[in-house]
Amino acid sequence: MKVTVDSRAPGSAQADLLAVPVAADEVKRTRLAARIAAIDRAVGGGIATAVATGDFNGKAGQQVLVYPDRKRKMKRVLLIGLGDAKSIDDEKLRTLAGTAVSRAGKSKTSRLALVVPPFGAGDDPEAAQPLAEGATLAAYRFDAYQTADEDGDGAVSALTLLVPRGQNLRATRDAAKRGVAIAESQNVARDLSNEPPNVLSPEGLAAAARKVGREVGLKVKVFGVPELEKRKMNAILAVGGGSVRPPRLVTMEYKPKGKAKGVKPVCIVGKGITFDSGGISIKPSAGMDEMKHDMAGAATVVGLMRAVALLELPIPVVGVIGAAENLPSGTAYRPGDILRAASGKTIEVLNTDAEGRVVLADALHHARTEYKPRAIVDLATLTGACMVALGRWGTGLFSNHAGLSEALRSAGEKTGEIAWPMPLFDDHKTEIKSEVADIKNTGGRQAGASTAAAFLWHFVGETPWAHLDIAGTGWTSGRSPSYQPRGATGVGVRMLVEWLQNGDLEALD
Ligand code: BES
Ligand code: MN
Ligand code: ZN
Repeated sequence: MKVTVDSRAPGSAQADLLAVPVAADEVKRTRLAARIAAIDRAVGGGIATAVATGDFNGKAGQQVLVYPDRKRKMKRVLLIGLGDAKSIDDEKLRTLAGTAVSRAGKSKTSRLALVVPPFGAGDDPEAAQPLAEGATLAAYRFDAYQTADEDGDGAVSALTLLVPRGQNLRATRDAAKRGVAIAESQNVARDLSNEPPNVLSPEGLAAAARKVGREVGLKVKVFGVPELEKRKMNAILAVGGGSVRPPRLVTMEYKPKGKAKGVKPVCIVGKGITFDSGGISIKPSAGMDEMKHDMAGAATVVGLMRAVALLELPIPVVGVIGAAENLPSGTAYRPGDILRAASGKTIEVLNTDAEGRVVLADALHHARTEYKPRAIVDLATLTGACMVALGRWGTGLFSNHAGLSEALRSAGEKTGEIAWPMPLFDDHKTEIKSEVADIKNTGGRQAGASTAAAFLWHFVGETPWAHLDIAGTGWTSGRSPSYQPRGATGVGVRMLVEWLQNGDLEALD
């Protein structure tokens, strides 16, 4: 979808659908606010009628479609209720654009114009970023495997953001461009995560990382089995051992041009289990298909690295992916096995379904020792326990560094990707001590998300580190918010771009 910015009067916009967000106090009783009255004159009075009949009162979430007569420039006008004008923040702008794009798709319209609300967070050129994000995310479809459907929704091809005359158009266009780059990168992550597990193997995931790297100029390295053996990455080898499609470790390196010589990078590590059957500790069959998304963390890493390169961030960033397929077979790892991870620590396997942390043991160790990063952030669909705790509404946030934790939480709040601080007690670390090895890969039934995080903690040393458990937020079964269709979410791309771009990284050194 192409996003453009224009400062012409909404009434003269040539569009299949003109979306007009209206705050509640702009349509109090039957008196329309001046800006709404002006639009109403250009569409022939339909807005006043919608308000006079009581069909529209600007309440948040309300949608009313008005049809101007044939002489008008626009074919349809969609009134969208905003509720309280002062409550407009970036996330409301995202959902506003998502609502407009979804409704336009239902009408199979291709040219959409959206009036940017001139209050709250809308009253700023920067508003174009969340608006472009919401629109681009809402237009996403995963339909590569479906025969074209006559009854399906159409695809909006062009969106024009209509801003007040006098607003800085260049700044607005820059913000819109950034929003499109970020959201398209999030869509790349969604695509990878939605891809079925027969198509996307560990090598397939590595190939996708290579392709993205080629497109945006990243240095991508892929370790196959011989290299993993040479580096003694027995943890990732064990998890991948049950599949005929062998594991991979992928790194994606971004260096800003010219600048930042000698600056330590930030490492973003992703769990890339392309399918998690549970292995020998096999999962129940109901819902097992969803375990194709068990590489959502890795998908976010690929999408994020794409965005980092396109936005030309001024700091070095490295993505690290541990990719494996967790299957039961004659060569699979077993409960009872003791593995020596690349770091030298030994892991007692008690449950082969706790495979994500085992793969991450080697990926985190590689990030730490190879890149000596100023910080490591990992993303993983790690535990059902985290999903129970926070549902689909929040990502679990665990860390050994209070400042890093707060910076990520705040970036998530700004970008509509809630990450909520979860505890990592010394007792959680004690809980996973093994009687026959250094640590074991499961704790008891209690605090499962925290004991999983405590396992990861063993492999990051002193490096400031945060772990994002995206088990509940990596994919969704309903359409909510408006810009999120069913399936993969690509969660974390927006939050981490925000943190890398505007967070105080020096505070970590
Ligand atoms: N990939 C799963 C976690 C998961 C479950 C994510 C459901 C999203 C939805 C992970 O590999 C797993 O199986 N974890 C186990 C750990 C347990 C065996 C200690 C779990 O959470 O049940
Ligand atoms: Mn598992
Ligand atoms: Zn898993």
